[in-house]
Amino acid sequence: MENTSQSQILAQKYMMKFIKRIPVTFVKGEGLRLWDENGKKYLDFVGGWAADSLGHCHPVLVKALTDQAKTLIHVSNAYYTLPLGKLAELLVNNSCMDRVFFSNSGAEANEGAIKLARRWGSLKLNGAFEIITTLNSFHGRTLATTAATGQAKFQNPYVPLPDGFKVVENNNIEAIRKATSAKTCAIMLEPIQGEGGVIIPSSDYLQQVRAWCDEKDLLLIFDEIQTGMGRLGKLFGYQLFGVEPDVMTLAKGIASGVAIGVLMSKERASVFKYGEHGTTFGGNPLACAAGYAVTKYIVDQKIPANAGRMGKYLTGKLCDLKNKYSFIKDVRGCGLLIAVEFDRDIAEAVMYACLEKGLVINFLKAYLLRLIPPLIITQAEIDEGIGILDTVLASFNN
Ligand SMILES: Cc1ncc(COP(=O)(O)O)c(C=O)c1O
Repeated sequence: MENTSQSQILAQKYMMKFIKRIPVTFVKGEGLRLWDENGKKYLDFVGGWAADSLGHCHPVLVKALTDQAKTLIHVSNAYYTLPLGKLAELLVNNSCMDRVFFSNSGAEANEGAIKLARRWGSLKLNGAFEIITTLNSFHGRTLATTAATGQAKFQNPYVPLPDGFKVVENNNIEAIRKATSAKTCAIMLEPIQGEGGVIIPSSDYLQQVRAWCDEKDLLLIFDEIQTGMGRLGKLFGYQLFGVEPDVMTLAKGIASGVAIGVLMSKERASVFKYGEHGTTFGGNPLACAAGYAVTKYIVDQKIPANAGRMGKYLTGKLCDLKNKYSFIKDVRGCGLLIAVEFDRDIAEAVMYACLEKGLVINFLKAYLLRLIPPLIITQAEIDEGIGILDTVLASFNN
C-alpha cells in the first residue's frame, strides 16, 4: 500500500480501536468500481458487507437522496410523511408480511424483533420470554442481539449478557424441540447463516421449524438482514425454502448503503401497543426515500433474478478454481452469498494479495473468503474478478 495518508492517521489517532482497518482509503465509487485516494481503481466484491445492493452511487439512489434532501430530511415519528408510507407499502406488497417498523440498522431491527417476541410471550404465552437461536448465527452487536448470536467470540467480552436466549445446534430440529419449554416465545434464525460462514440448511429444516412453531404457537423470526433484498436470487430468502416466518428483519441491501433497518411482521404478530417501542431517526424521510427508490428498482428490474443467474455463474467459476487448486476445500453458496473455504489459514493473505491487484474481497475467517458483491454485477465483472483471484491463488500453489 501507499504511505499512510491523512485519513488513516486521523482514524488511528481518534477512532476507538474496534476494528483493524485495511490500509486503503476509498474516495469514490461507481457501480462495482471503487477508487482510492491515489487514483487506483478496484473491483468491489464486498459491497460494504452486502449492503451496496445496487453498487456504489447508483443514479436512482443519488436522485432519490438529492431530491429528498432538498425537500425534507427528518421529522419525528410523531408525524406522517409520504416516503415512510410508500416504503412500508412496497415492502408489504412484495412480501408475506403485513406491518412494518423502521429502524436505523440491522441490529436495531433484530432488537425490535426480540422485544416483539417478548410481547407475544407476555400476551399470548403466559409470560414466556425465551428465544431459541442457533450456534454460529449472527444477529448484531447490541447486548440483546449479541446474546442471540451463537458465537462465543462476540459474547465473551460482554458477559453477563441479557437473559432469555437459548442457543442450540444449527440445522437440528431435535435440538430446537428439546430446548423448547413453557418459557419459550420464539425461534430466531437466519435462513442461511451469513457471517457464520455461509451455512445452508438441509432442505426440510426450516419447514420443520415452521411446523414446530405452529404446534407450540411460537413466533418464527427470520433474520434476513443478509439474505434479503434479492441476495439469494429471490427477493427474500424465505421464498427459496417455501416457509413463511411470522416476523422478518431486513437492513443491508434495502437502500444500497444508506442506513436503514426494517422489522416486519404478520398482522397477528404485530402486538406492540402505542408507546411500547420507538426510535428518533428510524423511518426518516431521507432513508425511506432511498429505501423506496432502491427497493422499487430491485423489484421492477428483477435484480434478484440477476443475483441468481450471476451467483450460479460465479459459483461455477469458483468451482473451476477448486478443481485447479487442491487447497480449496469447499465452494458453497446461494445466489450472491458465496464462501470459498481453504484447507489452510491463507484467507487474509489472499485478501491482501487481491487488494494489491485491484480486487476487494472479504475474508470472514482465517480459512474462509466470502463473496458478496453488489447484485447488479455482470458476467464481465465476474470474469475480471475471477481472473485476479486465479492469479493470486496461483502464487499460493506450492
Ligand atoms: C444476519 C445479520 N443480522 C444482523 C446483522 C447486524 O446488522 P447491522 O450491522 O446493520 O447492525 C448482520 C450484519 O452483518 C447480519 O448479517
